[in-house]
Amino acid sequence: SRYYIGADIGGTGIKAAVVDGQGKIVARRSTATPVNEGAAGILAALKKIIAELVCCGYEIGGIGIGTAGRVDQAEGVVLYATKNLPGWTGMRLAEAVEKEFPLPVSVGNDANAAALGEGWHGAAAGLNDYVMLTLGTGVGGAVIHNAEAISGRQGGAGEIGHMVIYPGGISCSCGQQGCTEHYLSGKALSRLAAEAAEGWDGRRLLAEFAAGSATAAAAMERYMHDLSLTVHNIQSFMDPEAIILGGGVAESHALWWDAWMSKLAALSPLSIKVVPAELGNDAGMIGAARMIMNKEGK
Ligand code: BGC
Ligand code: NA
Ligand code: ZN
Repeated sequence: SRYYIGADIGGTGIKAAVVDGQGKIVARRSTATPVNEGAAGILAALKKIIAELVCCGYEIGGIGIGTAGRVDQAEGVVLYATKNLPGWTGMRLAEAVEKEFPLPVSVGNDANAAALGEGWHGAAAGLNDYVMLTLGTGVGGAVIHNAEAISGRQGGAGEIGHMVIYPGGISCSCGQQGCTEHYLSGKALSRLAAEAAEGWDGRRLLAEFAAGSATAAAAMERYMHDLSLTVHNIQSFMDPEAIILGGGVAESHALWWDAWMSKLAALSPLSIKVVPAELGNDAGMIGAARMIMNKEGK
């Protein structure tokens, strides 16, 4: 049977995997995103890990790539990326990767890819209309309608990370102030952690929170409030079958989910079905493989 490469380009890491026809990962590679080397460095890092996977005995049917930023999926071009991926705006990604590997390539937004992965065999399996929110280095979003990601006129549909929850708040490289990205991302959690106690990172904050620390609870109060507000807004906008939370922060959901559920119930009168992602940080790669699989009509 055939295999597909699924790749995921984020602000912290670049990952790629060989995925089989059932969505199972059989081999994987990853590397840090070389944010100081601009677009050429990011592309070189991606090509290097893909090369390590296509070489080795699997019959590869194509390459799917999810990347942060707004993507023109028909052209495989990154129309706009924030400074999490410096220089990436304008990258003709499908073309560049097809030139290196003689395989069909499909490019989409990373959160859209993650949503497809979760729909394939994760938390959204069997659902047709759902929203995915990824809480990673940035905050990504996807709106899935009839089991397909809505891309919008300019590839910008579902950019939940750039919805403003604090007018006049923290400046975002998208040009706005107060985008959810600066309150809900892994980076935001690190900031809250550092403000709460010297030497704390996001992971420590969550661990202390789960262990009952009052300092951690005070810091998490804000985070949980802002996440509740965002989820309430999504619910009001779309009433999806489910809202799936993925990305690094959601991977450690066991440490904060129950506490957050009570905050959410207190903040929103709406009935909201929100569930953690099941494929963790693999969702993007698995969904990217699915993207090229769908395109190749397999
Ligand atoms: C970008 C999105 C991306 C998200 C997650 C945001 O900063 O604007 O396009 O999906 O990060 O990587
Ligand atoms: Na998206
Ligand atoms: Zn923004």
